[in-house]
Amino acid sequence: MDKFIIKGGPRLKGSVDISGSKNAVLPIMAATLLASGPSTIRRVPGLADISHMSQLLGELGTSVSQGDSGMLRLEVTDESHSHARYDLVRKMRASVCVLGPLLAKRGIARVAMPGGCAIGSRPIDLHLRGLRALGAKIELESGDVIATADKLKGASIFLGGPFGSSVLGTANVMMAAVMAEGTTVIESAACEPEVADLAAHLNAMGARIRGAGTPRVTVEGVKELRGADHEVIPDRIEAGTFMIASALTNGEVKLSHCRLDDMLAVVDKLRDIGVIVERDDGGAVVASARRLEPTDVTTQPYPGFPTDLQAQLMTLLCLADGNSAITEKIFPDRFMHVAELSRMGANIRKEGPTAIVTGVKRLIGAPVMASDLRASAALVLAGLVARGETTVNRVYHIDRGYERIEEKLRALGADIERAPEE
Ligand code: EPU
Repeated sequence: MDKFIIKGGPRLKGSVDISGSKNAVLPIMAATLLASGPSTIRRVPGLADISHMSQLLGELGTSVSQGDSGMLRLEVTDESHSHARYDLVRKMRASVCVLGPLLAKRGIARVAMPGGCAIGSRPIDLHLRGLRALGAKIELESGDVIATADKLKGASIFLGGPFGSSVLGTANVMMAAVMAEGTTVIESAACEPEVADLAAHLNAMGARIRGAGTPRVTVEGVKELRGADHEVIPDRIEAGTFMIASALTNGEVKLSHCRLDDMLAVVDKLRDIGVIVERDDGGAVVASARRLEPTDVTTQPYPGFPTDLQAQLMTLLCLADGNSAITEKIFPDRFMHVAELSRMGANIRKEGPTAIVTGVKRLIGAPVMASDLRASAALVLAGLVARGETTVNRVYHIDRGYERIEEKLRALGADIERAPEE
């Protein structure tokens, strides 16, 4: 297990290239289970989660080969195994998105129930409700969901849940519906850009999907899908993390491959507290030259402020000039970073799903423990500005979702090293 050793202080300056989106590419890889013939996916980030998905697809009969600069080629060669084992699913919850395509293409999917994780309880009832509406029979055996269907039939499906729409739930139902007989209408679909990117890939494979990226998605079933060539959208969460890194260190960072239009709530919030964000040919320049204002923020489904940037924004607000309130509406327990930030001198009080952050003059370096992907990113950010040395342990969490983060930060002037944990 590796750790990061960070010496706080340097202002970040220069350019960073944002990688392809993890959360777009994972379901897109799963979608290739539906195709007859090879698919090529471009700008695939080099992440632990991508290796896990490649391994899972390998076990499900897909040959996966890697080309240059983030190119992946996938082709199904054997359809006889449809079991996503617990060993793999527990490592990566997104494995659940093979459920829809396996069911649609092979008539059977056996997928281990993912269970909870460090960010809270993570049910899949909406996924199953959608698949049932399409005619699947769902059973639970030894902790696995077994979904079967001779034939799926288009239906009208409401996918809203107690916390709003579901990103992977929408992906699963959309992928199950593409080869169903007739038309499916998904209401209260997730509007995230990653869902729209998956639909773009499915349409390139021959699917007929309209409205992806809006709350109503219409899918007209087709008989067959072919392989396709797709370039993944940039990772808006990685982009947001680097924007916050620039703002925190009073830096000036240019981001290339960054779609500001996918990040309007984030840009609005950053500008609101005094960060300068400007469009710059196909990307953005983010700078800050002063102490920032406090703010209130609530995480919401897209186009609202993303839960995946809540922890990182909290680090920024720890150093703002006054009190901020951060309310988590997607994963109300996603606050593991609070205790670790407090060890670095942050002043944060938790009240239910809200954290009240009182800005302090400075954070102080400390050994801290990463608990999940985005919480780890928040701790790395804190280390960049803390006085003295910060050690972030268990960085395998961060390797799941940020491609070479220490190299990218170092290129911007940060003092960060990877070292083996003793
Ligand atoms: N929910 C249900 N029932 C369901 C599914 C979800 O009640 O069947 C609830 C969840 O408990 C949560 C809310 O609905 O309260 C939203 O969950 P969603 O299903 O949208 O999450 P997900 O699809 O499992 C994806 C991302 C997460 C991101 C969330 C929310 C991927 C691989 N994962 O998860 O990303 O936080 O959407 O935007 O796309 C991350 O990258 O760090 C990460 C956790």
